[in-house]
Formats: sequence, structure tokens, C-alpha cells
Amino acid sequence: MNKKENPFYFGNEVYDSDFCNRTEELNELQKDINSGINVLLYAPRRFGKTSLLKKLQTKLEGDKNYTFIYFDFF
Ligand SMILES: Nc1ncnc2c1ncn2[C@@H]1O[C@H](COP(=O)(O)OP(=O)(O)OP(=O)(O)O)[C@@H](O)[C@H]1O
Ligand SMILES: [Mg+2]
Repeated sequence: MNKKENPFYFGNEVYDSDFCNRTEELNELQKDINSGINVLLYAPRRFGKTSLLKKLQTKLEGDKNYTFIYFDFF
């Protein structure tokens, strides 16, 4: 990578190695899902809501106990 290049992606949701941390939030969301609790995730713009949910989708993908539906209202 060029030394001057910004290593951080900013814009839309981040995936894979661009996604940092959020371990506690992921665990908490998974616990809520397993308990059948409805969750409304809200935060100011660009706080990482979509990235977090897409990360959770990746984590639960392949587990037939879950059906993940992503709906983009835009
Ligand atoms: N877990 C993360 N690790 C690193 N960067 C992140 C993470 N989550 C969010 N970001 C940064 O924030 C930006 C916005 O992320 P994202 O689109 O997921 O937020 P959002 O809350 O869904 O935004 P919006 O309100 O516009 O829908 C990303 O482009 C990235 O720069
Ligand atoms: Mg979003």
C-alpha cells in the first residue's frame, strides 16, 4: 500500500478486514435474537449500524436456525 494512502475506508458499510471490533455488540445482538427479543438499532448517521448488522449476518450465515432478511428502504 502506498504510504500516503488512507488505510481506513469511509463511506458505506465495511466488511472483512475493514470491520473493527464491535465484539460486545455482536454478542449482545446474538443473545437478543436467541431470546426472541425484537431490537431496534438506532444511532446517528455513519455510526456503523449497517456494517454491524451485515457482520452479524455473515456470522450467522450457514446456521439453519436463522433466516436473515435484509431490506433496504432506500
Ligand atoms: N466496525 C467498523 N470498523 C471500522 N469502520 C467502521 C465500522 N463501522 C462503521 N465504520 C465506518 O463508518 C462508516 C459508515 O458505516 P455504516 O454505513 O455501516 O454506518 P451506518 O450507521 O449504517 O450509516 P448510515 O446512517 O448512513 O446508514 C464506514 O464507511 C466506515 O468508515
Ligand atoms: Mg446504514
